[in-house]
Amino acid sequence: MRKYLLPSAVFFVAVLVYAEQKQGTNVAGSKVKDDHFDFMVFTQQWPETFRLQTGPEVQIPENVTGWTIHGIWPQQKSTLSGLQMKKDAPNFCNSSWHFNQSLIEDLRPQMSLYWPNLIKTNNLWDHEWTKHGTCGASLPAIHGEHNYFAEGLRLNAKYNITEMLASNHIVPDAEKAYSYNDVEGAIRKNVNNMSFVMQCYWDKEAHKQYIFQVMLCLDKQFGLLECDKYFLSEGDLCWTTKTIQYPPFQYAFN
Ligand SMILES: *[C@@H]1O[C@H](CO)[C@@H](O)[C@H](O)[C@H]1NC(C)=O
Ligand SMILES: *[C@@H]1O[C@H](CO)[C@@H](O)[C@H](O)[C@H]1NC(C)=O
Ligand SMILES: *[C@@H]1O[C@H](CO)[C@@H](O)[C@H](O)[C@H]1NC(C)=O
Ligand SMILES: *[C@@H]1O[C@H](CO)[C@@H](O)[C@H](O)[C@H]1NC(C)=O
Ligand SMILES: *[C@@H]1O[C@H](CO)[C@@H](O)[C@H](O)[C@H]1NC(C)=O
Repeated sequence: MRKYLLPSAVFFVAVLVYAEQKQGTNVAGSKVKDDHFDFMVFTQQWPETFRLQTGPEVQIPENVTGWTIHGIWPQQKSTLSGLQMKKDAPNFCNSSWHFNQSLIEDLRPQMSLYWPNLIKTNNLWDHEWTKHGTCGASLPAIHGEHNYFAEGLRLNAKYNITEMLASNHIVPDAEKAYSYNDVEGAIRKNVNNMSFVMQCYWDKEAHKQYIFQVMLCLDKQFGLLECDKYFLSEGDLCWTTKTIQYPPFQYAFN
């Protein structure tokens, strides 16, 4: 299940192929799908946990020191609720709107620190734009590539998980385990007590869970929403009954 969230090359290609098939052709050869959405999920990740669960192809640049952006993902509210709730998200909405790096050159220094591509053979920015960014075009604040990426950077600075945890004495440590309630509480009090999604990677051998991603739910004015009312996460949630590891970065030396 967790693999759904990884920008892995295989998955990316598979989804592209699927999306191309689903799209088919419609009037006037337009390549635009239904891109309506109701809210957004803003996902940030802890790069070291991504590395631990994915493998050595993940390389953390040495100037990256904190939580990084995964993406802003437009979502549709499920018409069902509780256990019947299902995840509905538009994706790959406009196959003619290609990623163009030169449109975000000015954001690049910031993006290299806060939205880094952690797998050299992938292009995270292209993926996030093509899969999710093209679906947000109806909202002026994220219409177009520059707005989409600039908004991600703004949200990462506003909801600074590194800072939220550090100010509660939760800092990366190779040994120390933090209680679920301490980690959850440190974030929750900075997000107006709203529910959010906290994903962990469970290491079967070590029998430990590592904090992986934090997902905030946002309305179209970028106000916080209760995630548990709207959003079903596909990845593994943290066990509430187990402690949480917050592993320090291991940089690639080469
Ligand atoms: C689809 O992409 C094109 C750029 O190739 C853009 O001009 C157009 O506005 C987009 N349509 C929608 C509905 O986002
Ligand atoms: C990318 O954007 C630049 C700047 O607007 C433009 O000059 C260039 O033609 C675009 N490249 C492609 C492949 O669309
Ligand atoms: C961070 O490091 C990367 C890779 O080494 C480099 O491309 C990027 O320019 C650096 N960013 C800043 C802001 O120095
Ligand atoms: C988040 O907080 C950390 C720790 O205080 C800081 O180093 C980092 O620059 C902040 N990130 C942003 C995007 O401001
Ligand atoms: C958050 O909820 C807790 C427990 O319900 C409450 O004590 C606290 O005052 C709330 N904080 C905010 C900022 O609403």
